[in-house]
Amino acid sequence: MRKPLVAGNWKMNGSVGSVEALLEGIKAGMGEIGNTSVAVCAPAIFIPQTQARLQGSGVAWGGQDLSIHAAGAYTGEIAAAMLLDFGCKYVIVGHSERRTYHAESDALVADKVEMARKAGLTPIFCIGETLEEREQGITEQVVARQISAVITKYGVEALGDSVIAYEPVWAIGTGKTATPEQAQDVHAFIRSLVAKESPEIADRILILYGGSMKPDNAAELMSKPDIDGGLIGGASLKASDFLAICKAGG
Ligand code: 13P
Repeated sequence: MRKPLVAGNWKMNGSVGSVEALLEGIKAGMGEIGNTSVAVCAPAIFIPQTQARLQGSGVAWGGQDLSIHAAGAYTGEIAAAMLLDFGCKYVIVGHSERRTYHAESDALVADKVEMARKAGLTPIFCIGETLEEREQGITEQVVARQISAVITKYGVEALGDSVIAYEPVWAIGTGKTATPEQAQDVHAFIRSLVAKESPEIADRILILYGGSMKPDNAAELMSKPDIDGGLIGGASLKASDFLAICKAGG
């Protein structure tokens, strides 16, 4: 039985004051969350504050990106060891916003997944098709290509300690959500791809849905057999909405 995970992706939002209020709000509502793991992925500069507030709360935290390098002359980058030093459990890897605005290739994303995993972080490995790709009917080809970039280079074991997030690009921040059936179809396909290499990893890997998941659609999405939780953007910035989604995880 897979334990659901709901993770917030704050993206580039927040201030010292708003982060304080958001974290206090989330902590205050944690008593009502059942059997769902909860995490927040903060902008790097707020990770120390997040750690200080969340330590011992049952809520995990993580970063939104990491370097493929261990240390050195890479201005502006954050190393896996730095995230670990501040208690991070998770790191988002290959979000479509990084693929699009920072030209992250499948190969680079694969290197980041491996770097995170080797260091002892849990990568939240993001995949998903654009609207154009969906309309062309090549959604499965796109997610297969994105996943095989990791499996071909590092083996299916690289996914053994990972979380996959299926985030259709057309549903991110648009208010358009994949229907539970559309999402379930792709999630089942993703699990079948992993199963070809390792039925055991396929059975335990968490596959989150991301893309305008909100309190009013979360329960139905997460009721699907292959949807193991959510990666939440906009709705993770409001404690009451985020907690409502966490509760919908069961
Ligand atoms: P929204 O929930 O704002 O659509 O963002 C989803 C996302 O990109 C999470 O990583």
